[in-house]
Amino acid sequence: MDKIRITGGQQLNGDIEISGAKNAALPLMVAAILTDQPLVLNRVPELQDVLSLNELLEELGVSAKYDGVAKKLTLHGAKITSTEAPYEFVRKMRASILVLGPLVARMGVAKVSLPGGCAIGTRPVDLHIEGLKRLGAEIELNEGYILAKAPNGLVGAPIHFTKVSVGATENLMMAAALAKGTTVLTNAAREPEIVDLGECLIKMGAEIEGLGTDRITIHGKQYLRGTEHSVIADRIEAGTFAVAAAMTGGKVTLKHCEMQHLEYLTQPFHKAGVDILSSGTDVTVERKRDRLRGFDIMTEPYPGFPTDLQAQMMSMLTIAEGAGMITETIFENRFMHVPELARMGADITVHGSSALVRGVAKLKGAPVMATDLRASVSLILAGLVAEGQTSVSRIYHLDRGYEDLVGKLTKVGAKLERMHDKEEAA
Ligand code: EPZ
Repeated sequence: MDKIRITGGQQLNGDIEISGAKNAALPLMVAAILTDQPLVLNRVPELQDVLSLNELLEELGVSAKYDGVAKKLTLHGAKITSTEAPYEFVRKMRASILVLGPLVARMGVAKVSLPGGCAIGTRPVDLHIEGLKRLGAEIELNEGYILAKAPNGLVGAPIHFTKVSVGATENLMMAAALAKGTTVLTNAAREPEIVDLGECLIKMGAEIEGLGTDRITIHGKQYLRGTEHSVIADRIEAGTFAVAAAMTGGKVTLKHCEMQHLEYLTQPFHKAGVDILSSGTDVTVERKRDRLRGFDIMTEPYPGFPTDLQAQMMSMLTIAEGAGMITETIFENRFMHVPELARMGADITVHGSSALVRGVAKLKGAPVMATDLRASVSLILAGLVAEGQTSVSRIYHLDRGYEDLVGKLTKVGAKLERMHDKEEAA
């Protein structure tokens, strides 16, 4: 398994190109199931999760041709030849559950493996299942699989989510797009990635109102056409590099991203003593004082502070003056980066869903282990400022969600390299 070795102490200065958003690209790719016409997606990041989802879509009969240079993905589900998403795909990439609604909507039947839990939590899919039942699907859970049937098609209905769920909102918005009649999703998620998916569905002929609000109305259609659509910028990647600039004390411009999707950074960055200014689609981040100051954050559904930036902000707090409190309200186990940061000298106390971070003058490089996608990158960030060398193992987690992380950071002055780890897998 590969490792990344970082030599800390370099300021980051220059421009970083932001890629298309992983969490927009994945649901957009699944939308190809809803039409027998080609769906062309631009600005698709070259990530393990994208390649894994391409494999699953091909398994279902959707051809997937990816041009890694042009970042263009052409999907064509002229005929769906299988309605089964086997466990070996779904366990690799939980977002595979998103094929459930589209398969039932187009084919009247689907057999999708339950995703099982993951490092950050149990991550049930009850809201996806309950919502499909509301649209008239018969659902049976059998031997770890969801068997869904709607032989006469889905019928629009009001669906109230008891909890805000990005994936359930996406799954049911896509299913409702081909249902007979109108569906109203209430307590729906409002993430920019959902708006991006909805806008693509509208270009495919869907009739959707309320995107970006907690009430989304979908008037079902019999047929959706193909289209061409460009994926929005990855706000989590942009936020990650903004933290890297703040921690190392340099001045970095994030190219081709949307400040409107990063507003939740303004307040904590201001408190920390970091300027974050946008002009057009560029966002420039610059630390304005010798040492960062502490701040508090609590993760919430969008437009609140994203859970996917929680670990990165914790890294930032480890070297800030004073202390900061981080409260994680979305996932039940998303502090696995804490013991690894502590190995580097961070002073963090966890009580339930809150972590109190007391700033230390310096972190010390150490061998650490990645546990999930965003925890991995928080260790890279800590390594950028730690004294000496840090090696991060199990970085396959990183490859799932960050396109060319080493290349992008090296380009702005970071000293890091990817090494093939000779040791056997632990
Ligand atoms: C999406 O996951 C993202 N993944 C996650 O990003 C992100 O952390 C999460 O939304 C929250 O923003 C993709 O978009 C591919 P949820 P998702 O359904 O859809 C509970 C990353 O690092 N829940 O909004 O799975 C769930 O357990 C990943 O890029 C139910 O209880 O998240 C969680 O506590 C990690 N029942 C909360 O809701 C359900 O049926 C939010 O989950 C579904 C979810």
